[in-house]
Order: sequence, then C-alpha cells, then structure tokens
Amino acid sequence: LVEAALASAVAFVIGAVNPATILATIFGKDLRHSGSGNPGATNAGRVLGARWGVVVGVFDVLKGLVPVLVAQHFLGTVTALCVGLAVVLGHIWSPFLRGQGGKGVATSLGAILAVQPWFGLGMLVVFGLLLWRTRWVAGASVSACLVLLVLGVLTWFRWVPVGTRETGVWCVLLALLVIYRHRRNIELWISARRDASSTG
Ligand code: G3P
Repeated sequence: LVEAALASAVAFVIGAVNPATILATIFGKDLRHSGSGNPGATNAGRVLGARWGVVVGVFDVLKGLVPVLVAQHFLGTVTALCVGLAVVLGHIWSPFLRGQGGKGVATSLGAILAVQPWFGLGMLVVFGLLLWRTRWVAGASVSACLVLLVLGVLTWFRWVPVGTRETGVWCVLLALLVIYRHRRNIELWISARRDASSTG
C-alpha cells in the first residue's frame, strides 16, 4: 500500500508537468488566454501551429504510457492502475497551474495503451474516424471516451476476454473524468445545435 501511495504521488507530480504550457511559454504565448484556453495538444496546435500540437500530444501520451508501464513492470498491475489514475489527475488538476490543467484525453490514452492496448487502439480508431469525418477534436475525444466507458463496463461484467474487474472500474473512472472535463465543449455543442435547429 505504501508502495502504491508513493508511486501514485510521483505519478501525480509527473502528470502535473504540462508540456503544452511549457512549449507555449518558450514561444512567449499564454494558452489560458488564447484559443479555447485549454493547456492541451489541441489548443497548442491552434495557437502554436499543428506541428507543435502533435509534439504536445506525443508528450502527453508518453506521460501516461511510461509511468504506467514502469509501475506495471516493477510493482504490479494494481499499483499501475493507481499510477495511471494519479498521472491523469495530476494532468487535469495540476498544482503547477493552480489546479487548471488539461482535459486528459492523451494522457489517459497513454495509460490505457499500457494496461489495455486493445482498448487504447479501439479508442484511437474511433477518435481517428470521427476526427476525419467531423474535424472536431473534442467530439472525437468524448466519443472515444464513451467507447472506453462501455468497454470498462463490459470488463467489469467479464464480457470481454481481457482485463480484471479492477481494470474495468479504472477504465470507467478515466472515461468519466475526461468526459467531465469536456463539459464546456459538450454545452457549446448542445447550444450550437439548438441555435441551428431554431434558425431553420
Ligand atoms: O485536447 C482536448 C480536446 O479534446 C479539446 O480541446 O481546446 O478544443 O477544448 P479544446
């Protein structure tokens, strides 16, 4: 237990280090006051250029992937699950950004690729397809998380051949966290649809 708590504390600090903010600062920009205001890969792409958005996305994924893989190898799966949750929580509520971190899509994806690679690939496929069709990153992110939510529930009921019940709960928690962080995007989408239907 002490081991898991210590590993999670380290993971939280790693998660709290925000590549988008660091890169924007190097470029003399403030992501909190540009674009969507989110210190994530999408907004880094918007404000600094698509190439830098990809760089941030890769770092955010690695930030979830590497600590979870290391924990899994040396400390076992349950600790790895705690580490995965901690790194995402650190990213979302970063003390270095006064509690205002990113939305956690890429970091969660990294953690999931480490524990449940097939689920991560499934999320990537859904994300890629929707992004291609709609060009809307937040919508593609939320949809990928809905897929993760369903996969998590199926894992809990042992209706999929991979994963333990703990992994199922973990997937559900990550999915709910990321969807919760997209609530503003969801609200904007609902009001845009309402406006579109009222104007004809
Ligand atoms: O990177 C998070 C993405 O899903 C949405 O970001 O900046 O469009 O709110 P943004």
